[in-house]
Amino acid sequence: MDPDLQSSILPHILAHEGYVPGEQPDITGWIKLNTNENPYSPSPRISDVIASQVDGLRLYASPDGRSLREAIAVKHGISPDQVILGNGSDDILNVLARAFCGPDRGIGIIVPSYSLYPFLASLQAAPVQTIEFERGFNLPVDRICSCDSGIFFLASPHAPTGTGYSNEMFRQILAGFPGLFVVDEAYADFAETNAVELLAEFPRLFITRTFSKSYALAGLRVGYGLGSPDLIRVLHGVRDVYNVDRLAQAGAQAAVEDVDYFEASRRKVFATRSRFFGELEQRGWFTYPSQANFVFTEPVDSTGRKGPDVAASLFQYLKAQKILVRYFPNHPLTESFLRVTIGTDSQMETLNRAIDQWTANV
Ligand SMILES: Cc1ncc(COP(=O)(O)O)c(C=O)c1O
Repeated sequence: MDPDLQSSILPHILAHEGYVPGEQPDITGWIKLNTNENPYSPSPRISDVIASQVDGLRLYASPDGRSLREAIAVKHGISPDQVILGNGSDDILNVLARAFCGPDRGIGIIVPSYSLYPFLASLQAAPVQTIEFERGFNLPVDRICSCDSGIFFLASPHAPTGTGYSNEMFRQILAGFPGLFVVDEAYADFAETNAVELLAEFPRLFITRTFSKSYALAGLRVGYGLGSPDLIRVLHGVRDVYNVDRLAQAGAQAAVEDVDYFEASRRKVFATRSRFFGELEQRGWFTYPSQANFVFTEPVDSTGRKGPDVAASLFQYLKAQKILVRYFPNHPLTESFLRVTIGTDSQMETLNRAIDQWTANV
């Protein structure tokens, strides 16, 4: 690079490493179970609604997405002033990082977890306080409370395990941790509980949600944050002005209003998740109970071996069969496991057959 150009770039940006998302192959011929997308189509109402917006593309979108925020507020029984929209929930997480961290204000995280959080801290040149999970992935409430960062990110249901954490634990954290406690609920529509009811009590609680998973709209890029009206007002000033485009606002609104379709789609995922979980248990593979649309499982080969080599071997075998799951080799708590998105029943049957073949061959 030109030396003058290089020296003009902020040093922490030069040192920053780009985020590596899960593989996104051209899906023809692949069974894609690696990035927790929904295997079912989004609500059929969306195509007409989006088509009706095409002429409107001449005009800017609503900068604050009022109409969609109202629909989201109805879903959660809260006020639209407690809702902010984002270009996916990643955008909301980024807005939080912009507002809460910098070189002298770090973030707190517990690992292994969603790898975007440290990436966002790195963009702000902010330090990261890391708490390590133990194998059970139980929440070390006391250690979170004693973290002195201004913001703490926790995914619940957790990724990559699918473990859901209770509101009782969140109450304890909110009583002890003095900063903003962010519960990333990307998968909460697949869980038994969520933290929304705590918003009324705790202004230092913030929740992020997405249309990417339960609404099958990963390609539309719509997420949102829920928090106190005071904080939401501040964050509106931090986000990009037109961060959710006109088609995305209209499509997401049609999806959130089609409650029957959403419920039917969720029920199919629940049924397949429970069946697949049972099949993994029958194989004798340790699998974390999941409150999400994926499971995290520890493969065992025909000789009874498990471990990083076994997980890597199955990952590669499945990939050669054009079945993509997710392997996280970089942490001792994840290196022996694979994360598998819940697909359709037929996709899971194909996966099961491929696992049988792998077991027979190794
Ligand atoms: C825990 C978690 N949070 C947030 C996201 C981001 O979702 P999106 O930006 O598509 O809304 C993901 C995506 O995989 C995730 O796993």
